[in-house]
Amino acid sequence: MERQLVGKIAVISGGGSGIGAAIALLFAREGADVALLDRDEQHAAAVAEESGSFGGRTAALAVDVTDSEAVRRAMDDVAATFGGIDILVSAAGILDETPLLEMTEATFDKTLAVDLKGVFLAARWAAPHMVERGGGRIINIASQLGLKGGVGLTHYVAAKAGVIGMTKAMALELAGHHILVNAIAPGPIFTPLIEGLSEEWKAAKQAELPIGRFGQAHEVAPTALLLASSPGGDLYTGQTLGPNSGDVMP
Ligand SMILES: NC(=O)c1ccc[n+]([C@@H]2O[C@H](COP(=O)([O-])OP(=O)(O)OC[C@H]3O[C@@H](n4cnc5c(N)ncnc54)[C@H](O)[C@@H]3O)[C@@H](O)[C@H]2O)c1
Repeated sequence: MERQLVGKIAVISGGGSGIGAAIALLFAREGADVALLDRDEQHAAAVAEESGSFGGRTAALAVDVTDSEAVRRAMDDVAATFGGIDILVSAAGILDETPLLEMTEATFDKTLAVDLKGVFLAARWAAPHMVERGGGRIINIASQLGLKGGVGLTHYVAAKAGVIGMTKAMALELAGHHILVNAIAPGPIFTPLIEGLSEEWKAAKQAELPIGRFGQAHEVAPTALLLASSPGGDLYTGQTLGPNSGDVMP
């Protein structure tokens, strides 16, 4: 089968690990040039190197997605170096379990800054380059918890529900520029993000899932490829797709 992203330039935040890394590798395999933005430069560089084995151009940029100026500069640098931006995947994220009755304002703000504002800032500074190019794709990684809630996760759920809502607003506003904006709301996926969650939580969660197991990052990446590709993704905008082991059936 023909490679689906030949000639496309993709920026992936959180590309140094887990779901973002799996998406970067799949996009590179499909012919895209990939620029990885991550606060962890070493991990981003390692994924960039592996992505380069598929023959495209790669870049790894040390960026904190909560820093508006740094995100703007990174998007401008990628556009200047690679010749534009066609695809943005916002996969940078953090997660911790904190009961509401113990949650400080700082804990809430920190999660919202990365998991919600970081998604806004990436789109805010990538979209002008897509407008310039006459179109593009924005793929925001939300979570199924944004649809169903979760214990000890008020901050995370607020951010992820925000991402799902923001995706719809962006989709409406950018459609006229031929930019399609969608979210992916994965179920539990084995990545470093959930390593710190309690064994009780993991066991209970697994027992709830109709498919009976957590996913792997490489099982989420093909959903991003669908949304990034043409004609596969051409009719999706404002949608939230759920590779979630059946955890939510909206
Ligand atoms: N793993 C799951 O079960 C699961 C389920 C649903 C949604 N998600 C979402 O998927 C996305 C990817 O998560 P993952 O599981 O691959 O986690 P991960 O920890 O493997 O990867 C997250 C990446 O984001 C980067 N990052 C964190 N804060 C950052 C910041 N301020 N600036 C730049 N980079 C930053 C980290 O360095 C890391 O490389 C997140 O948005 C997460 O909320 C994960």
